[in-house]
Amino acid sequence: MKHCRSVKSKGKKEEAMHSRVTRPTIGIGMVGHGFMGSVHTHAWRSVDRLFDAPLRPELVAVCGLRWPEAQEAAVRLGYGAAEPDYLRLLERDDVGIVDVCTPNHSHAEIAIAALAAGKHVLCEKPLAATVTEAEEMVEAAARARSHGQYAMVGFTYRRVPAIALAKQIVREGRLGTIRHVRARYLQDWLVDPCFPLAWRLKREYAGTGALGDLGAHIIDLAQFVTGKRIEGVSALLETFIKERPLPADSDSPSPAGDAIGPVTVDDAALFHARFEGGAIGAFESTRFALGRENHISLEINGSAGSIVYDFESMNELQLWDAAGAKMVSGFRRVAVQEPINAYVQKWWPPGHDYAFTSQAFDFLTTITEGRDPAPTFADALQVQRVMAAVESSSAANGAFVDVVATDAQQHA
Ligand SMILES: NC(=O)c1ccc[n+]([C@@H]2O[C@H](COP(=O)([O-])OP(=O)(O)OC[C@H]3O[C@@H](n4cnc5c(N)ncnc54)[C@H](O)[C@@H]3O)[C@@H](O)[C@H]2O)c1
Repeated sequence: MKHCRSVKSKGKKEEAMHSRVTRPTIGIGMVGHGFMGSVHTHAWRSVDRLFDAPLRPELVAVCGLRWPEAQEAAVRLGYGAAEPDYLRLLERDDVGIVDVCTPNHSHAEIAIAALAAGKHVLCEKPLAATVTEAEEMVEAAARARSHGQYAMVGFTYRRVPAIALAKQIVREGRLGTIRHVRARYLQDWLVDPCFPLAWRLKREYAGTGALGDLGAHIIDLAQFVTGKRIEGVSALLETFIKERPLPADSDSPSPAGDAIGPVTVDDAALFHARFEGGAIGAFESTRFALGRENHISLEINGSAGSIVYDFESMNELQLWDAAGAKMVSGFRRVAVQEPINAYVQKWWPPGHDYAFTSQAFDFLTTITEGRDPAPTFADALQVQRVMAAVESSSAANGAFVDVVATDAQQHA
């Protein structure tokens, strides 16, 4: 029986390998190559290595606002070509997915044109700068769907395993009737009054400020996890710094000179909300919370339990439920890192993604500069000696063993 099982699983493995080699590709057309364009490109590159996706993405072409920068981005990000604008990108038959990573005011125009050109669309959040544009996008997506094209929005935090588990806990009724939702998204990068008037601070480009930039994420998270829509709100928006220096150009992080312009979006957004089903919620988003780099938190209290999520401990949930409370008081820490948790099986273990990329960067830099990349072989030899001493000690019933170099090692 054992033999039969192993033959079967070998067959399955070969089948899977074969399907990985033969499965179709799909061309990615990236619109925008700033922060999100780079992050999305990294995702398109690594999805094939981590997941058994039915399509293999190919980085076909990228475009941006300015031509020379698009050419540079094609090389930097690994696209086969740069295109001068999104219309030229849409003309390409080898582009199957258009990834919209541009400022909010352009999402509707680009996404609607892409869907009409027969492409699938992944669009960054917030969906649009206005509700009217968003409604037009929904209509375009419905039309495209009837022709087999699909559209999605980049509310990425839904894919965090702990958030997926929180949703499952709520859906299974383990919190009972939901009464309270508390959600916060705090950053601090706008505190400096010299930070220039970038597109994110202008209504005509961004639509809103902290509300759309950060608040959109927690509104989506709260509705996603609870499964309940927000039906009404009572809100307070504030713009603390009303004028800022004009940037050297629309993408630039540095001021051009003494000229200033008005900030036309909110710096902070606070609101209370009523959810369908009777729950009430408190939401806060700001880019003025000094010390907060990317703080997202969500607390949900129901009639039978509570969950607390804090993105700074992204693979944890705090859970309080009546069953646990019989044994211990307070919240229980649930580590969401098991293969049974959504996505975890295919995620790198914590830290492995960026630590390995940083390692590759340091290696490339130091060999170019003619320096020894560390840790050196000699550093690792010392680790090896310690391991050998551990084995020797264990073999000698735990006797103390010095970590020493062999003659050969001493002369190495
Ligand atoms: N999901 C998230 O967590 C997250 C995080 C940050 C930003 N975003 C969203 O991503 C989008 C882009 O933000 P970003 O931080 O990458 O901005 P960015 O300023 O870093 O980059 C914007 C890019 O768009 C290009 N561009 C601007 N107008 C264009 C046009 N008409 N046609 C083609 N290219 C154009 C620019 O050349 C630039 O390459 C925004 O909607 C933002 O809200 C999402």
